[in-house]
Amino acid sequence: MASLLLPLFPLLMALLLPLQAKTHWEDTQVLKQLKNALDPTSIPSGSCLESWDFSLDPCDNLFGHKFTCGFRCDDVVSGVSRVTDLTLDHAGYSASLSSVFWNLPFLQSLDFSNNFFSGPIPNSFSNLTRLRSLSLSSNSFSGEVPPSIGSLSALEELYLNGNGFNGSIPASFVGLVSLKRLELQSNGFTGAFPDLGVLKNLYYLDGTDNGFSGELPAGFPASLVQLLMRNNSFEGVVPSSIGDLGNLQVVDLSHNQFSGSVPAALFEHPSLEQLTLSFNQFSAVETPNSSGARSSLIAVDLSDNEITGFLPPFLALMPKLSALSLENNNFTGMIPVLYAFKTAKPEPGMSPLVRLLLGGNYLFGPIPEPLRLMKPDSATVTLAGNCLFRCPTFLFFCQGGEQKSSAECRSAGPVIP
Ligand SMILES: *[C@@H]1O[C@H](CO)[C@@H](O)[C@H](O)[C@H]1NC(C)=O
Ligand SMILES: *[C@@H]1O[C@H](CO)[C@@H](O)[C@H](O)[C@H]1NC(C)=O
Ligand SMILES: *[C@@H]1O[C@H](CO)[C@@H](O)[C@H](O)[C@H]1NC(C)=O
Ligand SMILES: *[C@@H]1O[C@H](CO)[C@@H](O)[C@H](O)[C@H]1NC(C)=O
Ligand SMILES: *[C@@H]1O[C@H](CO)[C@@H](O)[C@H](O)[C@H]1NC(C)=O
Repeated sequence: MASLLLPLFPLLMALLLPLQAKTHWEDTQVLKQLKNALDPTSIPSGSCLESWDFSLDPCDNLFGHKFTCGFRCDDVVSGVSRVTDLTLDHAGYSASLSSVFWNLPFLQSLDFSNNFFSGPIPNSFSNLTRLRSLSLSSNSFSGEVPPSIGSLSALEELYLNGNGFNGSIPASFVGLVSLKRLELQSNGFTGAFPDLGVLKNLYYLDGTDNGFSGELPAGFPASLVQLLMRNNSFEGVVPSSIGDLGNLQVVDLSHNQFSGSVPAALFEHPSLEQLTLSFNQFSAVETPNSSGARSSLIAVDLSDNEITGFLPPFLALMPKLSALSLENNNFTGMIPVLYAFKTAKPEPGMSPLVRLLLGGNYLFGPIPEPLRLMKPDSATVTLAGNCLFRCPTFLFFCQGGEQKSSAECRSAGPVIP
């Protein structure tokens, strides 16, 4: 008998609870403040916020026609409901959130992405101590991120991307001990990037399109899978220790002012698949002891640097590599026959190069036979802007791209005939 009734129990509870459930007055207060803070002309008809009618108890009437959406409640203690999720994305709302006193101690998720919210992050956000996900992306927020945000020790995901935030990332971010994902891209952040090595769960870090400067911080957590810092003002060398981050899969440090050598550790890393270091000032590529055979790299982009010397043969020995760009550097010497085989006739078990971009260097000499025999469109190969005087236009990868003048090629070094 009991086993028959048991499955019905949650249903009975669900039917009974709404009758006695009551939103905690403090939570109702915050929801009211939020609605009042909004520019009324930014509330589209039929939107979540338009349906918020405080003549009724919010959590009790959630998904009735008075409160259709925008938040979730949980019955916490003896019939008192607390707001656990607030979601107002993609609605066109505009307001400054600073006038709201964010006292929602049970809130776990707040998503205000893709609206026109403006002003700074309210200090009282630091009272949202159970918050696990905070998304403010694609709004018009501005000013500096308050250090008090660093006290959100339950926060797992923080999305600040696509706003007008400025100033530096507060050192207090080391207090975000649960953080897994941090998205800061497309803001006006400046200054040195803090050392977040203590954030043992952080796997995704995106600081793209900001004004971060100085050297890369000394420490990143070993949990890091994606490190994206494209288009900043970082400088100095990329430390070899970055290769010790054993879970890395994607590294994009392009469009900065990094210099020195590309560390060998990145070419023998067991999980790194994408390495993008274009538009920097690297001057050399270190050769790994393992000759690249252990690498998992699929795509390597070292274009638009100042790398000199011969094309590194080991790049053609990486078994999974299928896109290689070395364009617009100062490479010289002949195209290694290994590159040609990797592109046209890879060994069994070797992925072929479907992109081989070598334009804009000082390469000279004959084009290796396997490349010359390739069918058009079997791969994207570019050799324009080199010193390959015999790059006949009938070869698809020679067409449409001039070679450098012999004067320019001669001036680049005595090694070129
Ligand atoms: C957090 O809430 C308490 C009241 O619950 C308040 O006294 C305190 O000032 C708040 N903190 C911030 C930073 O607003
Ligand atoms: C950030 O921007 C605000 C205006 O939104 C400005 O008053 C403040 O000086 C800026 N801070 C920094 C560090 O640039
Ligand atoms: C770099 O970011 C700035 C904004 O911070 C943007 O205007 C510019 O187009 C970006 N450059 C590249 C190469 O992505
Ligand atoms: C490569 O080999 C050299 C000398 O054999 C050694 O000093 C170096 O530590 C090795 N590098 C790595 C990354 O194993
Ligand atoms: C690379 O080549 C350019 C053009 O010839 C030259 O101006 C530059 O100094 C060279 N850079 C290095 C690092 O050799």
